[in-house]
Amino acid sequence: MNNVIEMKHPLIQHKISRLRDKNTGTAEFRALVEEIAMLMGYEALKDLPLEDVEVETPIEKCMTPQIAGKNFAIVPILRAGLGMVSGLQPHEYYCKLPSPISERLIVVTDPMLATGGSAVAAVDFIKQHGGKKIKFMAIIAAPEGVERLMEAHPDIQLYVGHIDRELNKDAYICPGLGDAGDRIFGTK
Ligand code: URA
Repeated sequence: MNNVIEMKHPLIQHKISRLRDKNTGTAEFRALVEEIAMLMGYEALKDLPLEDVEVETPIEKCMTPQIAGKNFAIVPILRAGLGMVSGLQPHEYYCKLPSPISERLIVVTDPMLATGGSAVAAVDFIKQHGGKKIKFMAIIAAPEGVERLMEAHPDIQLYVGHIDRELNKDAYICPGLGDAGDRIFGTK
């Protein structure tokens, strides 16, 4: 699939292995998630438009590039909240999108792309509100989730740290890393 970009960078792979380890505690887990998101963002945002601005260095004035205007927005999927509506189809229970949205690059983030249900719902919602340029960033994905998301939204770009083997009957990714929400918030 052309629009699916799996990260090969050794730093990302190394940090994902640390995330997987059940002995990695909450503080380290949270820091690793942030670091991996930053490293993946480096790749996912490499086509962000720049504009030249004037800056005065200690030596002289110069024109130098910075990210142009209000050009992108990050939209995290609040998994813990979605967990409160278990048994229902995922739905948006809290959603605040920046405006205007149609010109922005929207980066949707969810550490785990499992069944793809919440991911498809989030991208549906963003498109219904006028979003056009959409990228999705997941640290670990199941093949089932990748297929479902890309079938529903073949026009988006999906950045994944690693595509794992499969979902189990409880919709956990195998080998995965367990419940990302629990491990980020220390709720188990
Ligand atoms: N969500 C998680 O946090 N982990 C999984 O394995 C699947 C969905």
